[in-house]
Amino acid sequence: MRAGVFSLLCGVLLLAQGATAQDPVSVAGFRSSRWVLSRDGGSKYACKCYPGDYCWPNNGQWQKLNKTVGGNLQVFLPPGAPCYNTFKGPLGDAQTYNADKCATVTANWNNEQFQIELPAAGLWIYLTNDTCRPATSPSNTCTLGYYPVVVIMAKAAAHIQAGINFAQENNLQLIIRNTGHDFLGRSLGWGARVINTHSFQDTKFTNAWRGASGYKGSAVTVGAGVQAFDVLKQANALQPPKVMVTGECAFKVITADGVLRTANAKTNADLFWALRGGGPAAFGVIVEAMYKTFDDKPSSGVMFDIDTTTTTNATLIHFVDNGLYVYYELGTMGHNLHMHPIVGIGKTPAELDAVLQPMYDDLVAIGITPSVTKQNFSTFYDLYQAMFESEVAGNSALTGGWTIGREDVANNHSAIISAFQTVVSAGSFMIGHMWSAGHGLPQAEWNNSAVNPRFRNVVDKLITIVPVAGNAPLADKAAAQSKLTNVVDAALWNAAPNGCAYINEADPYEPNWQNAFWGNNYPALLEIRRKWDPNGVFYAVSTPGTENWEQTETGTRLCFKL
Ligand SMILES: Cc1cc2nc3c(=O)[nH]c(=O)nc-3n(C[C@H](O)[C@H](O)[C@H](O)COP(=O)(O)OP(=O)(O)OC[C@H]3O[C@@H](n4cnc5c(N)ncnc54)[C@H](O)[C@@H]3O)c2cc1C
Ligand SMILES: *[C@@H]1O[C@H](CO)[C@@H](O)[C@H](O)[C@H]1NC(C)=O
Ligand SMILES: *[C@@H]1O[C@H](CO)[C@@H](O)[C@H](O)[C@H]1NC(C)=O
Ligand SMILES: *[C@@H]1O[C@H](CO)[C@@H](O)[C@H](O)[C@H]1NC(C)=O
Ligand SMILES: *[C@@H]1O[C@H](CO)[C@@H](O)[C@H](O)[C@H]1NC(C)=O
Ligand SMILES: *[C@@H]1O[C@H](CO)[C@@H](O)[C@H](O)[C@H]1NC(C)=O
Ligand SMILES: *[C@@H]1O[C@H](CO)[C@@H](O)[C@H](O)[C@H]1NC(C)=O
Repeated sequence: MRAGVFSLLCGVLLLAQGATAQDPVSVAGFRSSRWVLSRDGGSKYACKCYPGDYCWPNNGQWQKLNKTVGGNLQVFLPPGAPCYNTFKGPLGDAQTYNADKCATVTANWNNEQFQIELPAAGLWIYLTNDTCRPATSPSNTCTLGYYPVVVIMAKAAAHIQAGINFAQENNLQLIIRNTGHDFLGRSLGWGARVINTHSFQDTKFTNAWRGASGYKGSAVTVGAGVQAFDVLKQANALQPPKVMVTGECAFKVITADGVLRTANAKTNADLFWALRGGGPAAFGVIVEAMYKTFDDKPSSGVMFDIDTTTTTNATLIHFVDNGLYVYYELGTMGHNLHMHPIVGIGKTPAELDAVLQPMYDDLVAIGITPSVTKQNFSTFYDLYQAMFESEVAGNSALTGGWTIGREDVANNHSAIISAFQTVVSAGSFMIGHMWSAGHGLPQAEWNNSAVNPRFRNVVDKLITIVPVAGNAPLADKAAAQSKLTNVVDAALWNAAPNGCAYINEADPYEPNWQNAFWGNNYPALLEIRRKWDPNGVFYAVSTPGTENWEQTETGTRLCFKL
């Protein structure tokens, strides 16, 4: 079936409406001879090449690419396609029904790991346009939604290099995809060509690393496709057990010119700085990264639910200054407040209790005695296994978020409570994470990564979730997006102007995203982006240098606004 679809790549296809061949044309200094000029909503655009455009590569070019990437080129069909007789995609129609495959995808639709292993599925399906869901009626039509059309399942750095070069030469929209977890839809793209890096699964531990930044000690090198739970498990099996948090030493990265480079504190230091927090898919494709590891510590945890809304004050700053990490949900899961868990790394149960006592006192004062579960573990890893809840794929919702600064809690406490009430009464709910991203880090090191400097003073990070059906009419989707941006998140950023947005859990259409994500680091990041990707090979929404790029025609064609 796949080969059948692929043969349509060179078949007779409609030239997209309004698209004109212009060869060569130089758009805003980008070197490419392959732009597609178009109009949308009264504006003029120069767009990347999509199936049906004059500049979409022909069958021979694709076959040649397939050889270069070791036969790892695939035509991508939406995962639910086997449940439908017909998939109507931009490469043409295909007959896709297969009862066994349909049963498998139906049974696994909410299984996170199943979706991760697919070449290009999005776990948060609102962003796929919730198209082609596994269905019981095969006579409905499966459409592409916001899925890509072609994927390279890269197995070696050379495959990534070939993929980048091919995208650059042919002006294709290039998407990098690892697990498809992205809440902002950045590992999806209508009609795009994907490079999937999930096969890079090597991990290598060492106890004697000498980093370019001066660090000496234990570290681990992980391939781009390694998931945290895997590397944590391997680290835990070491003697003594290790844990890891943060990038320290080096990246191997392939930049837009197709060159495999090392980025660390000495070599390509600007790229190293940008890769740490500067936004995904903006500076290169990461092949592997090296992280510092730490000896694991005995840890204790607490969890409880409260069914009456309450917020306590000073506890926030007090918690994070004591090194706690707290995960909580507000306004969902049948509980008004779900604390699950409160984590004290390196703390005994008695030490954790002592930190939590002011909160318990506050709760008792308002007539609540929560039923608390306390547990003690010999490592943080064991706590993580036992107390963190598992996650699912296949949900449809719009996510946003904001963080709250230390100063905001101190100065604007009641406004923050009102903002929480606004969020919940708007029919949205929140997932909160209290911890201090600057805890234990000397201020002099705050600018060692491109992360917004305001992030280091954050005491609570919130994900906001606005439920909306993935197949809702466009007007309803626009209303949900507007509610997220202008009501829910607006309440939070108005009340907490010292906060910022977290790049992985935020509104894709965050207003003033440059400042929200990067603060005063943005100008430097923009310069680094222009240096390393002068021709706009990479794209992900709201990342450095994408100011004039838009996904036009209801979120499909990626175009540069003229
Ligand atoms: C159910 C669920 C739970 C989540 N829980 C958490 C959480 O607890 N904490 C948290 O921080 N986040 C969480 N997230 C968000 C998620 O971790 C982030 O979106 C993260 O960026 C996913 O990275 P990925 O590479 O696995 O995913 P992808 O979706 O594959 O990629 C994310 C972005 O990175 C780019 N990218 C992928 N691979 C590479 C590469 N090799 N080189 C360069 N760029 C690349 C992609 O192009 C995309 O822009 C959650 C998401 C979901 C859906
Ligand atoms: C790429 O080559 C492999 C191995 O020859 C083949 O199985 C696969 O179908 C090819 N991909 C496409 C899109 O033609
Ligand atoms: C996405 O879904 C909406 C309905 O929610 C539909 O109107 C629109 O055409 C779809 N877009 C694509 C690209 O499939
Ligand atoms: C709550 O915050 C206010 C304002 O900062 C402060 O006056 C009050 O003492 C705090 N209450 C508690 C219980 O800490
Ligand atoms: C908690 O666990 C640690 C490590 O296993 C152990 O040393 C300590 O005695 C335990 N404390 C309690 C109160 O159980
Ligand atoms: C406090 O919050 C209110 C309401 O959102 C906002 O208007 C105000 O600017 C905030 N004040 C400070 C000092 O942050
Ligand atoms: C942070 O460091 C980067 C890289 O060294 C530099 O370009 C940038 O200007 C610095 N930003 C601030 C706010 O100091």
